[in-house]
Amino acid sequence: MIIGGSASQKLAAKIAWHLGETLCPLETRKFPDGERYIRIKGDVNENAVVVQSTGYPQDQNLIELFLILKTLKNMGVEDIKVVIPYFGYGRQEKSFKSGEAVSAAVIADLIEAAGASHIFSINLHEDGIRDLFNIESYNLSAMPLIAEYIGNKFENPLIVAPDRGALGFAEEIAGILGCECDHLNKTRLSPEEVETEAKDLDIEGYEAVIIDDIISTGGTIVNASNILKELGASKVVVACVHPVLVEDALLKLFAAGVDDVIATDTLRSDVSVISVASLVADALKPFYE
Ligand code: R5P
Repeated sequence: MIIGGSASQKLAAKIAWHLGETLCPLETRKFPDGERYIRIKGDVNENAVVVQSTGYPQDQNLIELFLILKTLKNMGVEDIKVVIPYFGYGRQEKSFKSGEAVSAAVIADLIEAAGASHIFSINLHEDGIRDLFNIESYNLSAMPLIAEYIGNKFENPLIVAPDRGALGFAEEIAGILGCECDHLNKTRLSPEEVETEAKDLDIEGYEAVIIDDIISTGGTIVNASNILKELGASKVVVACVHPVLVEDALLKLFAAGVDDVIATDTLRSDVSVISVASLVADALKPFYE
């Protein structure tokens, strides 16, 4: 039985189809004061998979997830696998200054306490988040799905990481497609501002595909795209796993001359054209055999 929280209902339905499992209906609404109400409307058995991304509105999606987990436990479900395609609060998995909340650790504790037996996520911002769980955890990579999409659309792309942190993703995709990859160097000045160094890349005539795990404010990609266009890229396309897309981030990208933006459906967005349903279903399949 698969159950989708309100952030991930379509994805949950697709995962259910891939696995040949029943999709359990869930009623969710808000009380007049803003508090969440959930009701699990289907029959349950001893195993369940709950799919809920915890992107914006993060707190609401998390509370809903906790309510679903605890309710399933109360209904007698023993084994609850939790799929969190985009893991919100994933940026702070350690304390950088004294007194800071290690928010990823707090969230991991709460998910576990609510009744999760296994955790599945996709391209966690830091793989170390898995160590915060005492239950089995899986960090799946959507890069092969992105590579397949790019491979079908572009003849000979140059894969570019907008910073060193994303180089592993660019290498993974370039390795699958057998094409070249490179990276730029970025410095983060504040949560909203980044600086990217100009770099001499041999890109004239290439279609550049910028790869990142997350597009948040869009600043990282705008800088990278400007550099690649100045160097003579014939086209600049951006692909990411998690389209967080804060406020008008997508407009900023197109206004900066980005030709196309491609993302997965770990979060719902206008550019979520690649579904991670098969990736999640493949990871769950061994538990159904
Ligand atoms: C940084 O570590 C991430 O990989 C992304 O580059 C970052 O989240 C993008 O943020 P923004 O879109 O706000 O520049």
